[in-house]
Amino acid sequence: MGDGSGVTHVVTHLPGDGVGPEVTEVARACVDAAAGRHGFAVDWRPCTLGGRHYLQTGEVLPDAVLDELRQSDAILLGAVGAPDVPPGVLERGLLLRLRFELDLYVNLRPSKLRPGVGGAVAKHRLEDLDFVIVRENTEGLYAGAGGIVHKGTEFETATEESLNTWAGVRRCVQYAASLATARSGRLTLVHKTNVLTHAGDLWQRIAMQVAAEAGVELSYAHVDAACLWMVDDPKRFDVIVTDNLFGDILSDLGAALTGGLGYSPSGNLNPDRTGPSVFEPVHGSAPDIAGKGLANPAGAVLSAALMLAHLGEDAAAADLDAAVDAVLVDGVPASTSEWEKALLTELSEGD
Ligand code: IPM
Ligand code: MN
Repeated sequence: MGDGSGVTHVVTHLPGDGVGPEVTEVARACVDAAAGRHGFAVDWRPCTLGGRHYLQTGEVLPDAVLDELRQSDAILLGAVGAPDVPPGVLERGLLLRLRFELDLYVNLRPSKLRPGVGGAVAKHRLEDLDFVIVRENTEGLYAGAGGIVHKGTEFETATEESLNTWAGVRRCVQYAASLATARSGRLTLVHKTNVLTHAGDLWQRIAMQVAAEAGVELSYAHVDAACLWMVDDPKRFDVIVTDNLFGDILSDLGAALTGGLGYSPSGNLNPDRTGPSVFEPVHGSAPDIAGKGLANPAGAVLSAALMLAHLGEDAAAADLDAAVDAVLVDGVPASTSEWEKALLTELSEGD
């Protein structure tokens, strides 16, 4: 107690749509409880972007709001998305724009099997399934390069190009190597070098160079084999580094293996700290269960834990993570409010 920084962190709370407000409320309460115990404070700043806001105002991410967001130390995002918003509007206009504008070049996605949560594969033991995907978050097929020509004719041609820059890949792999150093010392590059011989070659050369510099043990898996091993033998993996689209897909597989998207946190990190990082559960706005008090806030709370660690509040971060496990040991709570009550009880118990 009282071992924290003593500072006040300015955090933008962007609850978004659907279950976003419900789950981030719980995460906020947990952060405040941990802050009280560890001697720091959080100054929460509200921000109302998302699908509903877009339908009401036509605004996705105004420049003025982006400038305000830049002033905070971190952003806690719930989920954005509403049934009547056309696909791509919020994805490209809000989520990807935040990732690109704030240079959030690492998407950190831990997959950890937790006690009491049935993973998808019965044979998995807790100690065998605890890996982190470091997903490159500003390049690859997400960069938006490509286009459509001859639209509406039988010669219509659509291209999506994967952009992979030496500097962009290198900084992402460097982050992954430093994370590997802090964990087991093992780093796995996942790609498809046997077919994607241009980008794959670049990734492989950089990974070998960075791993040698950092003194970590590097292994390699093709993305298809990585899917098989994640299911069949997940202990092969500790820190995985991969490109944007592979990371997107593999992290949903990781979520399925660890109880589903409800338990999956993410951090969109700017490791250089030239601006705030964005923390969000991997799940979406889940309009079907929104407002019913049924949403699982674990992904949001674990995302808040990643946020606290990024802000240098390691002890508070560890408390949030441990509180989720402690709640689960007693049985999965049946509602969002039961989750909140149980988490706050854990966080108030002295140690
Ligand atoms: C995710 C999501 C996003 C992505 C979408 C909503 C743009 O699937 O965060 O994993 O593809 O990155
Ligand atoms: Mn995804």
